[in-house]
Amino acid sequence: MNFEVIGTGHYAPENVVTNDDLAKFLDTSDEWISTRVGVKERRICTTETTADLAYQAAMNAITMADISPQELDLILCATISADDVSPSLACTLQKRIGADCPAMDINAACSGFIYMLETAAGFFERGTVKKALVIGAERMSRLLNWNDRSTCVIFGDGAGAMVLSTGNSYLSSKVFAKGNTDVIRIPQMHGMSPFYKNEAEEPYLLMNGQETFKFAVNAMTKDVQEVVEKAGLQEEDIAFVVPHQANLRIIDSAKRKLSIAPERFCSNIERYGNTSAASIPILVDELNRDGKLKDKDKVVLCSFGGGLSSAACVLEWKVR
Ligand code: ACO
Repeated sequence: MNFEVIGTGHYAPENVVTNDDLAKFLDTSDEWISTRVGVKERRICTTETTADLAYQAAMNAITMADISPQELDLILCATISADDVSPSLACTLQKRIGADCPAMDINAACSGFIYMLETAAGFFERGTVKKALVIGAERMSRLLNWNDRSTCVIFGDGAGAMVLSTGNSYLSSKVFAKGNTDVIRIPQMHGMSPFYKNEAEEPYLLMNGQETFKFAVNAMTKDVQEVVEKAGLQEEDIAFVVPHQANLRIIDSAKRKLSIAPERFCSNIERYGNTSAASIPILVDELNRDGKLKDKDKVVLCSFGGGLSSAACVLEWKVR
């Protein structure tokens, strides 16, 4: 026994930033960003905190699930951009929604949401949890060097959430990490210890785009094949693939390597950019609210990112 999804929700800040808006202060163009990354616009926080985004996404999922926050037994947040080092985003959210249950964050960068589903599955299998809220929420805009055109054009802010209840939807999974500090790194704040002698680094995202690209395509292809096989399925049984929205060309390359029909790969990167751990639950919520997910559909979620990390799973969708 693991879980089924009984509610989904998402939220993104109102401020829309187009590629043309970026071209006003960066040496870039709509043409470059659209063709190399696949992003046309992204939402960027002006006054909203990560907790604000998480709160709205959570309440949308809780409303769809038709439960009260007091019924939750667990809150898990996947994030690399929590407002505070402590309390965790999950604890801040627990207070705001009025829940009374354990709450914690996990950092597995863009793979965080699936790592969280895997963590939740363990709680459900041990029978210690009957309802859980799992959230991916990111204010990536605060981790970016806005003078670095090779990174800041890719990302956006947003949050997505799922309410899980006891069930059998989590058919198979894989979580993977290959520790590496050269490909993607976001240094922490240096601190002010008078005793620490290392040089301060700027606390903004550093990325070797091409190495990330190669890792992403390989991980996505391998992970999807493995979870489909582990679930006892064939690639043609898959109704939808919901990949992490990092770059449209990564998704297109993986499509060519897999024998799943290309139209089954979903995408909304054009409107949100890469929202890290939030990208998968935002896209699942859009598919769910559009009525695209049918009962018993086999849905593959797959992600990759900083760590380096990757993760994938197969869900059997349940329409309530
Ligand atoms: N506008 C215009 N030109 C640009 C821009 C820009 N925004 N950014 C880079 N360029 C230029 C470069 O300077 C370079 O110019 P040069 O040839 O004169 O040196 C040229 O474009 C090509 O640059 P590349 O880095 O080779 O471009 P590439 O096609 O590899 O695209 C990109 C770069 C978009 C970063 C791509 O490699 C990519 O998407 N990688 C994966 C990123 C990713 O998946 N990140 C997610 C993980 S992040 C996380 O987990 C937190």
